[in-house]
Amino acid sequence: MSEQLLTPIDIHQVVQERYGAIAQGQGVSCCGSDAECCDSDNATSLYDTDMLAGLPVDVTGLSLGCGDPVTIAALQPGERVLDLGSGGGIDCFLAARQVGESGYVIGVDMTPAMLEKANANKERMGVTNVEFRRGQIEALPVEDNSVDVIMSNCVINLAPDKAPVFREAFRVLKPGGRISISDIVTEGEFSPALRADMARWAECVTGAIDVDTYTSLMREAGFVEINVADKRSADEIVPVQEGMPRVFSARITALKPGHSN
Ligand SMILES: C[S@@+](CC[C@H](N)C(=O)[O-])C[C@H]1O[C@@H](n2cnc3c(N)ncnc32)[C@H](O)[C@@H]1O
Repeated sequence: MSEQLLTPIDIHQVVQERYGAIAQGQGVSCCGSDAECCDSDNATSLYDTDMLAGLPVDVTGLSLGCGDPVTIAALQPGERVLDLGSGGGIDCFLAARQVGESGYVIGVDMTPAMLEKANANKERMGVTNVEFRRGQIEALPVEDNSVDVIMSNCVINLAPDKAPVFREAFRVLKPGGRISISDIVTEGEFSPALRADMARWAECVTGAIDVDTYTSLMREAGFVEINVADKRSADEIVPVQEGMPRVFSARITALKPGHSN
């Protein structure tokens, strides 16, 4: 299939099918094809053990990220937080503990089965300061200038077009708000043929873009103080192969200019 034949609708559909199957425990693995899903190995490799204490295995076993954007965000009690592509909710539940009862966490995800899982986990845990909303991160169901912090864990690489994701993130952040991302990025670009590999795209590989392009899109959306830290080879997280550009998991932070009231 040539790259031109893939529309954003195709990509959203394949991604949604994959994560719907994972949420329903259909033996498909996370960001990758070999790792076992639905044990807590991914979570224990990404987060401090202390952070995970008390989280049920239904949450830790559905950790599909490639970093820990919660810790990078340095959340404060009372903050209002948005998680782009919240999956089974692990980062939302971790954030909810840190912002406390005076804070609030919204998770947005487009996959209904993921939202069902996340809501079931929320109910089981008796959490009251988290809400999961259905939507695409390219058109967020969130008001303008309404959140202090945005986090996202291994999701933006899956979006067919990254520019609207950053524009939307900028729109909903309060002035002075911050964004904290863990994501897969590359040095160099995938060839059109590799980009057209939808299975790999949905595994968080071939949708990833060059890190400089990624930060340029953030700058064009209005973000400042963009910082890329801790780039590490992603070959233990996603299946990489010969002929691909270098693939990394990175932590990316930035600010929306201004001061919140
Ligand atoms: C790799 S998983 C990561 C889930 C979660 N952030 C975590 O760390 O466990 C990707 C999630 O993003 C969601 N997703 C992918 N593309 C999306 C989009 N364009 N809009 C909304 N959700 C999306 C998928 O449904 C899936 O739940």
